[in-house]
This record gives sequence, C-alpha cells and structure tokens, in this order.
Amino acid sequence: MGRLENKSVLITGAASGIGRAAARLFAKEGAKLLLADIQEKAGRETAKMIGRDGGKAVFQLSDVTKEDNVRKMVEKTVDLYGSLDVLFNNAGVELLKPLHETSEAEYDRVININLRGVFLGCKYGIRQMLKQGRGIIVNTASAGGIIASTDAPVYSASKGGVIMLTKTLAVDYGNYNIRANCLCPGFVRTAMNDRFLEHYEVVDPIQNRFCDCVPIKRPGTPEEAARVALFLACEDSSYVNGTALVMDGGIAAG
Ligand SMILES: NC(=O)c1ccc[n+]([C@@H]2O[C@H](COP(=O)([O-])OP(=O)(O)OC[C@H]3O[C@@H](n4cnc5c(N)ncnc54)[C@H](O)[C@@H]3O)[C@@H](O)[C@H]2O)c1
Repeated sequence: MGRLENKSVLITGAASGIGRAAARLFAKEGAKLLLADIQEKAGRETAKMIGRDGGKAVFQLSDVTKEDNVRKMVEKTVDLYGSLDVLFNNAGVELLKPLHETSEAEYDRVININLRGVFLGCKYGIRQMLKQGRGIIVNTASAGGIIASTDAPVYSASKGGVIMLTKTLAVDYGNYNIRANCLCPGFVRTAMNDRFLEHYEVVDPIQNRFCDCVPIKRPGTPEEAARVALFLACEDSSYVNGTALVMDGGIAAG
C-alpha cells in the first residue's frame, strides 16, 4: 500500500525538476495526479513517464499567475478524481540580480509566479478542501526564503512571502483539518539551478567550487527533494503544520 494510495494530488511546475520527480514518486506511492505547467510538451512527457510506470496522471496546461487557469486546474482535479487531497504548489522561477539593477517587470514576474501563484493555488485549493473537510498543502519555498544569499533579493523576498503565507494558512485552517507546510530546498540540480550556475559562471566540475558552501559538498537531487515533499504530503507528517522544512545539505545551519 503506497503512502498516497488513491489520493488525488495536484502538482504545479510538474514539467521539470522537483515537480516532475515528485509527480513520479507520488504516482509510485499510489496517487492520482493532475499535472500543471506552462510547458506543454514537457508536462505531457511527465504524464507519459508516469503512465509507462503504471501510474495515473493527466496534464493540464496552466499558468499559475492566471486566476481562471488556477480555478480550472483545481476543478479539473475534482472532476477527474472526486476530491483534492493534496495540493503541491511548486511552480517557480529564479532571478539573480542585484536590487538596483532589477526592473519592475522582472520584479512583477518573479512575485507573480512565486508568490501570487501560491496565493491563487491556495485560494482555490482551500475552497475545495473546506468543502471536503480535509486537505494537505505543500508549498515550495526555498532556503533562500530563510537566509539571504547573494544577488537574489526579489527571489528571496518571494520565497520568504511563501513561507509566511503558508504559516498563516496553518494557523487559519488547521482547525478545518487542513495542514500547510513548506518545502525549502537549497541547491538541487534542476534546469533552474543550471541557470543559477551559469549566472555564477561556475560550469564544471560543479562539486568543486559551487558546492563549497554546502556542508554535504554536493547539490541535492530532484528525487531527494521529492522524498521530502512526499513526507509533507502524506500521513507520515500528520502532526506537522506550518513548518518550513529545509533540505539543503546543511547550508542554512551555518
Ligand atoms: N532547484 C533548486 O535548487 C531550488 C532551490 C530552492 C527552491 N526551488 C524551488 O523549487 C521549485 C521547482 O523548481 P525546480 O528547481 O524544479 O525548477 P525547474 O525550472 O526545473 O521547474 C520549475 C517548473 O515551474 C514551471 N513554471 C514556471 N512558471 C510557471 C507558471 N507561471 N505557471 C505554471 N508553471 C510554471 C516551469 O515551466 C518548470 O516546469 C520552484 O518553486 C523553485 O523556486 C528550487
């Protein structure tokens, strides 16, 4: 029996990286999935991978910044599977720029995707969860929402916002049998982090220079992040509510 047996799960940002790894792992644990992303081809590929593994997943093209898209992805999950048991708001984008060089358009894009997207997902997810009388929310924030890192003021602010938003949900809806927690990765090897690395002009070998700041001396894998997300998404974490769970190889400890 899987840890998400027959659970209806919606994952945003499921076309790539942590979202794709989580989708594949959750499916193996018995979840029925709605995968949402703006990347149609890669999102459909995630669904196909899950199908080949014997799991159940449907992709829906969705932009988390658009309220009607978010409402529809929640509705589609309920139409397909009868409920929304777990909502994993994971879609996000990075921005590495010092504040004085950041344009308003860049600020708006990051805040819209990383924070507004989570707000909208939670708004429609919680409406459904209140009807059902239960639900679990996992929001991907970042270790960067807890500790400041170089050249990421807007990204870090967006993720700090996700953490605080999530804590308020834990307080406001715990009494309605709805839990909300954050996954806070440090450096996980995904498309996003490859862009981070380009920015720092650290190409190869990643372990030698980039990972000097990581006590474990290597980046995390999407699969490692997915396992932490699974813990927050299933009953193993039944008494965990409002936490920002850091998986960063120890960066934030120093
Ligand atoms: N990789 C890391 O080291 C790291 C560290 C801390 C936090 N995170 C967070 O983890 C999450 C997943 O990132 P990742 O590393 O897997 O990156 P990724 O780039 O591989 O995946 C992000 C996904 O989000 C999707 N997305 C972007 N904008 C969207 C939108 N408007 N609507 C729907 N989907 C959208 C992308 O298409 C992509 O598939 C993000 O929230 C990111 O901020 C990642």
